[in-house]
Amino acid sequence: MSEAFEPHNIIVTGGCGFIGSNFVHYVVNNHLGVHVTVLDKLTYAGNPRNIEGLPSDRVELVVGDICDADLLDRIVPGHDAIVHYAAESHNDNSIADPSPFLRTNVEGTFCLLEACRRHGVRYHHVSTDEVYGDLALDEPRRFQPDDPYRPSSPYSSTKASSDLLVRAWHRTYDLRTTISNCSNNYGPYQHVEKFIPRQITNILCGIRPKLYGDGKNVRDWIHTEDHSRAVWDILTKGRIGETYLIGANGERSNIDVLHAILERMGKDPDDFDWVRDRPGHDRRYAIDPTKLETELGWKPVHTDFSEGLDQTIAWYREHEDWWRPAKEATEAKYAKQGQ
Ligand code: NAD
Ligand code: TYD
Repeated sequence: MSEAFEPHNIIVTGGCGFIGSNFVHYVVNNHLGVHVTVLDKLTYAGNPRNIEGLPSDRVELVVGDICDADLLDRIVPGHDAIVHYAAESHNDNSIADPSPFLRTNVEGTFCLLEACRRHGVRYHHVSTDEVYGDLALDEPRRFQPDDPYRPSSPYSSTKASSDLLVRAWHRTYDLRTTISNCSNNYGPYQHVEKFIPRQITNILCGIRPKLYGDGKNVRDWIHTEDHSRAVWDILTKGRIGETYLIGANGERSNIDVLHAILERMGKDPDDFDWVRDRPGHDRRYAIDPTKLETELGWKPVHTDFSEGLDQTIAWYREHEDWWRPAKEATEAKYAKQGQ
């Protein structure tokens, strides 16, 4: 059933992380009648500076854990929707230690669903295309919303588990839910552990970029602002109980992305190191966004990847004080893993 929904007071979990904070900026800049309560535990990946400077009458930060049911009972009443971004989000970390992924991604989602059920609140679940496993490089097919779930990593299997909880809470309890599964995001405020910011900041620090395996793995890149607009469209116009795939036709091999970064930062194409591959490394992700485009009229705006990359490189050049404190520890962790 389609439902036009006009939220005025929303909770954004994980709103101090990369994609969540971009969504908060998007809402504040584009939907003037909406107040945002950010619920964030401020893990290593959460930074309150990501939402600094936003008007205090529009955005409030509550520091806390999505697994804390008492806290949820205190803050959820009075809100009309939860948009759930908070997660442990990095595959390599999940391989080194899956345990926080189980707690935050699975138990955390359960706690939020239960809070929405107790307080009658609309719920949007932000997830990943990685729940569908991977595709072969030469396969013409792209992911479809009803594809079977075949997650490969501890990260993607916990995200898949959380999606299944959402589907069950809708079917069993009639909870008003939607799910979006998006491809790889890039843009400002992304943690330096992730592929694109890691390579940009490596070059800025005089460290050689690191490429896993044979570099031929393909990711389907989307600018995080296009993701934000899609989530807003699904929250306000999406059909309850449905899953929407978000992607911007941005398939590129890792080596092509790295070569583009090297070229734009004035480096030689061979100025990088091949490193140990990720165990279970998914080969290719590719999203078919037809349902989102035809049902909700969404289209990506940031369609020029080179331009998006230039803006992202410029952002990291200009915000060294933002990423520098996390850089050394991140590289030390990778060095221990031979990556
Ligand atoms: P991120 O790691 O940058 O941010 C996660 C945020 O969640 C941080 O602010 C962290 O402090 C917070 N958090 C973690 N555990 C918490 C807890 N228990 N309670 C409250 N807050 C907690 O992640 P991201 O890359 O911005 O991803 C956000 C969401 O989008 C995730 O659900 C992820 O699965 C999904 N997603 C990410 C991508 C991508 O390319 N990064 C693509 C598709 C979907
Ligand atoms: P990542 O940003 O970790 O996202 P995801 O695992 O969700 O796709 O990695 C993107 C791709 O880049 C993935 O194929 C792994 C690869 N990669 C490297 O080659 N080198 C690196 O240093 C990192 C962090 C990732």
